[in-house]
Amino acid sequence: MGDTPRREIRSFVRRAGRTTRAQTRAMTELWPRFGIDLPDAPLDLDQVFGRHRPRLLEIGFGDGEALAEFAGAHPETDCIGIEVHEPGVGHLLLALEDRGIENVRIICHDAVEILDRWLPPACLDQVHLFFPDPWPKKRHHKRRIVQPAFLDKVARALRPGGMLHMATDWVPYAEHMAEVTDGCEWFDKDGGTAIPPAFAGRPQTKFERRGMRLGHEVRDLLYRRNDAPLSSPADC
Ligand SMILES: C[S@@+](CC[C@H](N)C(=O)[O-])C[C@H]1O[C@@H](n2cnc3c(N)ncnc32)[C@H](O)[C@@H]1O
Repeated sequence: MGDTPRREIRSFVRRAGRTTRAQTRAMTELWPRFGIDLPDAPLDLDQVFGRHRPRLLEIGFGDGEALAEFAGAHPETDCIGIEVHEPGVGHLLLALEDRGIENVRIICHDAVEILDRWLPPACLDQVHLFFPDPWPKKRHHKRRIVQPAFLDKVARALRPGGMLHMATDWVPYAEHMAEVTDGCEWFDKDGGTAIPPAFAGRPQTKFERRGMRLGHEVRDLLYRRNDAPLSSPADC
């Protein structure tokens, strides 16, 4: 019993999903160009991108279309996308190649661990979390990625003044996000908790379109990282 490793509660389950032949090729041929293989030490993002520019992180990019659109429209912003679902990673790799987008790097790993172990403090200007899995059943709420401990990690990675932009099509999750983020001392609300999507300045996502077809209401939540210092290493 004592030797049984504790099972982490993760915000995702690895779905088998169908990987197309093109996506398989992308994982072999394009990964060396756009993918980040995790080193033993925290990432040096200036080295990863070969320059120092404003940086955005998108967590759980799905098929990556929103990230590709954002990166294509903002060539002066360096974008890191994290996703655990390999077909989605393959899809984004192909989109980057097709559209000649150079300012994106991809990590295929649990974003919570990346925030914890691989991102240096205050290295990001923006974090996007668009339509994270809502885990609607009460017994699954513990799997929702937006929790106080997660926000502490995001706060550590964002520079003061940096933005956290979340969106969901599940109103009870939006309420949960607002409650938890309002209660986090490192974030200040920016522009209200329910920005109409048309004003939120982000591309529409695949999961969002699905939600809208089902008649779901979409909510965007914007928060700014304030300059309150993280109080102790335990907060990181
Ligand atoms: C509901 S989908 C939304 C995808 C996309 N953002 C969209 O709006 O179309 C949530 C995505 O987050 C990914 N995900 C969930 N937890 C994650 C984690 N801890 N690290 C990386 N990706 C995660 C899942 O694999 C899934 O693709």
